[in-house]
Amino acid sequence: MSVNIAIDGPAGAGKSTIAKRLASELGYIYIDTGAMYRAMAYYFLKNGIDSKDEEAIKQSCPKIDITIKHIDGEQVVILNGDNVNGVIRKEEVGKMASATSIYPAVRTKLVELQRQLASQESVIMDGRDIGTVVLPDADVKIYLTASSRTRAQRRFDQLSQKGVECDIEVIEKDIIARDEQDMNRKVSPLRQAEDAVLLDSSNLDIDGVVSAMKDIINDKINK
Ligand code: DC
Repeated sequence: MSVNIAIDGPAGAGKSTIAKRLASELGYIYIDTGAMYRAMAYYFLKNGIDSKDEEAIKQSCPKIDITIKHIDGEQVVILNGDNVNGVIRKEEVGKMASATSIYPAVRTKLVELQRQLASQESVIMDGRDIGTVVLPDADVKIYLTASSRTRAQRRFDQLSQKGVECDIEVIEKDIIARDEQDMNRKVSPLRQAEDAVLLDSSNLDIDGVVSAMKDIINDKINK
C-alpha cells in the first residue's frame, strides 16, 4: 500500500531539508514540487518571457517538458531533456517561480505530473498546495512554518557560511514579499489544509523538527 505525506509551508521554513531526511529515514521518495515551478520559471527566463505576460506563458506551456528522476535518492529535474538542478536554486529563479506559479496553465501542468508521481509509490511531497489541492486525500498533512525572522536568520547563516555577503533585513523583506505573493494569489494559494497538523519550527533545530514530524506521522498512520 502506498502512503502519501504532504508538507506545505512558506519559503524557508525548512520543508525540503526536513522532507529529504524523513524520506531517507522512512524509505519514501521525496518530491520537491517547488523545483518543478522553478524549472518552468527557468524556461520563461531563458526565453525572455515576461512574468506578467499570461498569454505568452500559456502559449509556451505545451513546449515545456518536465520529467522527474531520482538518482541516488536525489531528485533530478529534467527540462526539455536537460538536467536543470544546478541552475534553478538562484534567488532570481525563485522569484520568477513565485510570480509565474499564479497562472492556471502552469499549475494544471505540474499538478497533473505531481499526482501521477504520487500514485506510483509512497512519497513525501512538499510545496504550497499539496494538502489542499494536489493530494487532498494524503494520509498525513503537515503545515511547517517559522517566523519570518527565523527564516531570514537561517538563510543569512547559510549564505554567510558560503562566504556570500548579505543583509538580514533585505532577506527578511524578500521572504515577507514571497509569503505575500504565495498566500494571496487567486489559484491554489498557500494555506494550511483544515486537516493538516501545524508545526512551528521557530524554536527547533533540524533534529527537533524531524523528531516532531515522525511523531505526527506515526500518530496518523498507526491510528
Ligand atoms: O519552495 P520553493 O521556494 O522552491 O518554491 C518556489 C515557488 O514556486 C514558490 O514561491 C511558489 C511556487 N510553488 C507553488 O506555487 N506551489 C508549489 N506546490 C510549490 C512551489
